Amino acid sequence: MLKKEVKKRKPFQLVKGMRDILPEEQRYWDFTRDLIDRVAKSYGFSRIDTPVLEFSDLFVRAVGTSTDIVEKEMYSFVDQGEDNLALRPEGTAAVGRAYIEHGMLNLPQPVKLYYFEPMFRRDRPQAGRYRQHYQFGFEVIGEPDAIIDAQLILIASKIYQAINLPVNIQINSIGCPSCRPDFENELKDYLKKQKSKLSEVSQARLLKNPMRVLDSKEKEDLPIIAEAPQQIDFLCEDCRNHFTQVLEYLDDLGVPYALNPTIVRGLDYYTKTTFEIWSGADEAGSPSSEAGRQSALGGGGRYDGLLELLGGNPTPASGFACGVERFIAQIKETDAKVPEKPKPEIFLGQLGPEARKKAIVLFEELQQAGIRVAENFAKSGLKPQLEMADKLGVKFTIILGQKEIIDDTVMIRDMENGIQEVVDFHKAVTEIKKRLEKSVVSDQ
Ligand code: HAM
Repeated sequence: MLKKEVKKRKPFQLVKGMRDILPEEQRYWDFTRDLIDRVAKSYGFSRIDTPVLEFSDLFVRAVGTSTDIVEKEMYSFVDQGEDNLALRPEGTAAVGRAYIEHGMLNLPQPVKLYYFEPMFRRDRPQAGRYRQHYQFGFEVIGEPDAIIDAQLILIASKIYQAINLPVNIQINSIGCPSCRPDFENELKDYLKKQKSKLSEVSQARLLKNPMRVLDSKEKEDLPIIAEAPQQIDFLCEDCRNHFTQVLEYLDDLGVPYALNPTIVRGLDYYTKTTFEIWSGADEAGSPSSEAGRQSALGGGGRYDGLLELLGGNPTPASGFACGVERFIAQIKETDAKVPEKPKPEIFLGQLGPEARKKAIVLFEELQQAGIRVAENFAKSGLKPQLEMADKLGVKFTIILGQKEIIDDTVMIRDMENGIQEVVDFHKAVTEIKKRLEKSVVSDQ
């Protein structure tokens, strides 16, 4: 009889722009989370987690309608209850919403919050650019002073220092609603004259939001941007003083930075200080360096108008966020010491159904005693189990075979010299502990 041919199903694949974080990569993620927790706590930041889903309008209002994020990249949809929702594309608006909603205004100010969360942007996938990516972010809400901006920049630099990565801070001030319109008019006039040479995207932006042109990554726009009028020349006294103070603090702290008039950021909520963290020592990269723009490690700035825009009281604030995948890619290139996953110290082998029953109990006792123990209860032959023990590089293997079951004993095998000793089953944990302690002493 002919066998019925079963058609093999095509296996499912990842959604474009998404990635799995596989077990072998987890140690980099653990390291990064630990580092961020440690740094954040040492500067008095408390952790906040906001939901992945928010009302779309939150980001439309905060980030701005004529930004890439809102125009092209936001995953928004109407749910079964007719609510217009979005997968969070960035953290600042959500943190601002939480600050207002939970009355954090009544806490001692400023409120310092940090997060480590996935963000979603339907960006064009390429190296270092994903549709789900993680960010660690720091936000200080409730303080207008320039010292906050400088300290945030210092924190960002220190995080990269911890992985021995030289970074440079590209910094700018984009003024406030009272001094920006003059600059915008000047910029518009200049760009209009260059219109035919601008990319299609920038030509469209010119009409809706000329500042966005400065943020363009299109090659043909870069020389035009390099010659464009600069916001710094149009700052009001308050903004100019604020910016000068930020730079003075940075000088005092010895944080290297480069003034870069094109750092206007891709989100509309910024006022005064804006900055990006680029990799490279000193002032590497010209202000319009394509590589730097395309793959900033992080970015941030002051957003004194955002809280009010979201329905809160006028509340000054400042912050930054960095891409975790980009951070981890850098760790792999530097000689930062990322701890390996702790290796098991012993292996527990078993032979036969009775031995298995006892082994599963002994395994728990060993774990409770704080011993890192590995097993492969799925294998019944001793040979493959010993091979696994060898591969894992454990110091000792405990073997429970048929004879040991009858005698109520276990066999302890020293994997280095092959010497085997029989010990009482009930003393197995203390005996193995003794041997492990001895071997640690002799290793030193
Ligand atoms: P952002 O510059 O849009 O700022 O994003 C921050 C960082 O997230 C970027 O510098 C980059 O490292 C990383 N990132 C952004 N998009 C992607 C992507 N598609 N794939 C991989 N990594 C990406 C913000 O989101 C602001 N909320 C930062 C901020 C905090 N400003 C004030 N407080």
